[in-house]
Amino acid sequence: MSARRFLVTGALPYSNNRLHVGHIAGAYLPSDIYVRYLRATGAEVRYICGSDDNGVAALKSAREEGIPVEELTAKYHAAQKNAFAGLGIRFDLYGGTHQPEFVRTHERLSQQFFLTIHEKGLFTKRTTKQLFDEQAQQFLPDRYVRGTCPHPDCGSDNAFGDQCEACGRIMEQTALRNPVSLMTGSTPVARDTTHWFMRLDQLQDRLADWLRSKRDTAAAGACWRPIVINQSLGRIESEGLPERAMTRDMTWGVPVPLDDPDARGKVLYVWFDAPIGYVSFTAAWCQQHGGDPEEYARWWKDPDCKIVHFIGEDNIVFHAITWPAMLLATHDSPSVQGERGEFQLPHNVVSNAFLNFRFPGKEEEKMSKSRGTAIWIEDYLQDYDPDPLRYYLTANAPEQARTAFEFADFVSRNTELLNVLGNFVNRTVTFAHKYFDGKVPAPAGREAIDQEFLAARQTAADAVALELEACRFKAALAKMMDLARAGNVYFDTTAPFRTRKTDMDACGRAINVCLQGVRTLTTVMAPFLPFMAARCLGMLRLDESALSWGRAMEELPAGHSLGAPEILVKKLDPP
Ligand code: 2FM
Ligand code: ZN
Repeated sequence: MSARRFLVTGALPYSNNRLHVGHIAGAYLPSDIYVRYLRATGAEVRYICGSDDNGVAALKSAREEGIPVEELTAKYHAAQKNAFAGLGIRFDLYGGTHQPEFVRTHERLSQQFFLTIHEKGLFTKRTTKQLFDEQAQQFLPDRYVRGTCPHPDCGSDNAFGDQCEACGRIMEQTALRNPVSLMTGSTPVARDTTHWFMRLDQLQDRLADWLRSKRDTAAAGACWRPIVINQSLGRIESEGLPERAMTRDMTWGVPVPLDDPDARGKVLYVWFDAPIGYVSFTAAWCQQHGGDPEEYARWWKDPDCKIVHFIGEDNIVFHAITWPAMLLATHDSPSVQGERGEFQLPHNVVSNAFLNFRFPGKEEEKMSKSRGTAIWIEDYLQDYDPDPLRYYLTANAPEQARTAFEFADFVSRNTELLNVLGNFVNRTVTFAHKYFDGKVPAPAGREAIDQEFLAARQTAADAVALELEACRFKAALAKMMDLARAGNVYFDTTAPFRTRKTDMDACGRAINVCLQGVRTLTTVMAPFLPFMAARCLGMLRLDESALSWGRAMEELPAGHSLGAPEILVKKLDPP
């Protein structure tokens, strides 16, 4: 049987800032766990991410920092790449939509997409009025203009170009009263501009059918999360899909590839080119490994490969509606199944809700740089190990609803990790060193209690696998920890610390069985806690191939030499 194949992506972070724990909890940690698990089962996986360099967010930050936008995006691209590596989030390739090494392939593929959709007649060219910042010499995206709500019964000063924060009503940006540009603080003026709008309405029936098929498998216990279905299918069914402008007045981005005077000085909308980054970075990986970028088709156009996107909740509409619409728009046949030769639609779009922040005893709030409610990964890594954060963010993952980061919770989860998993591994290996010369003792006539714990390892590994296959990471982690708990119960019940004085055979038997538990746990913890798993491999004197899921139940033979005991989890004091 040939190996299962997956192309897994993490949402491309904007390269205008550092990464905080909310980003990691949203898309990157779950995808890394998933990929590590899939690889352990023998699947062939490409794990792709990179920076989202284009768009007005980068321009605005470059202006604020007083540096060229290329320099800004290169700086944050590098910082993000380091932060990911520090947490053990191991992409096969970390590209960047405007990084020198990737920009040409990215532009070429993005322009190809645009032209294909254009040739299909799925764009309408239209002239509309938009607010223009004369100081920045730039049209303003909706979120970069703020003003007074035009609704007389509201009149709040907290309205943006698309929506009033106070009354929630949607509006055109030109309807705002007293508009102020958030780029420069100046008063913008309304100007005519021409753009290409994608006819999402033409694709909505096919999209809705496809989403319904995903909803129905979700109902049957498969893995599409309700939050994704509700925000995508729910929106189509309640409002239908309007035309969406897919071009912008800017020079930073992918130039609009049309020989039309109206296309001059325009680029593709950042949300049009960003998901194409998944494809162009796959092409870059293929180029680097084998020399042929066109090999990307093996991942993107072959239904044997499953495409799984990991995102945060603010990206749902783009990944479950706009991006599939773009993929569908390139299809020749009306089939949504993805025939060979056509871009496939995602097998799954896995989204978490937001991770908020909570100060002790206060209401939770959004992570924000200005309010000091963000924990930056590079700061975290200066003081703490990566795995306790991986543990906390998975145990407290916002899988179904928002959760909040609170430092005291982080410390108590660290204590739990130490007391349950760290303690089981540590007491077992230390004991073997102290009383069995650092070797696996003989199994010496196993009894029912031993067999029971040994069998529980398989049950636990299967339960963890079942949850991971369905992208239920929190539940999977809990089942892994249940096995460590069972290990501690077994240790306490068989009490080798007592039998060593009375019955050395029984003592050796218990430590042998505990070591088999540590062996299984090493494989099963690895997707979640890769650094700790690496230390366990060292203590068990096994190499990385022992992390293969199929070898989790392999027995350590009697007499096998162990490595020195190592501390897996450091104690942290409560704040
Ligand atoms: O929300 C964000 O951070 C976006 N930069 C995500 C883009 S995901 C994909 F489309 F590239
Ligand atoms: Zn209002």
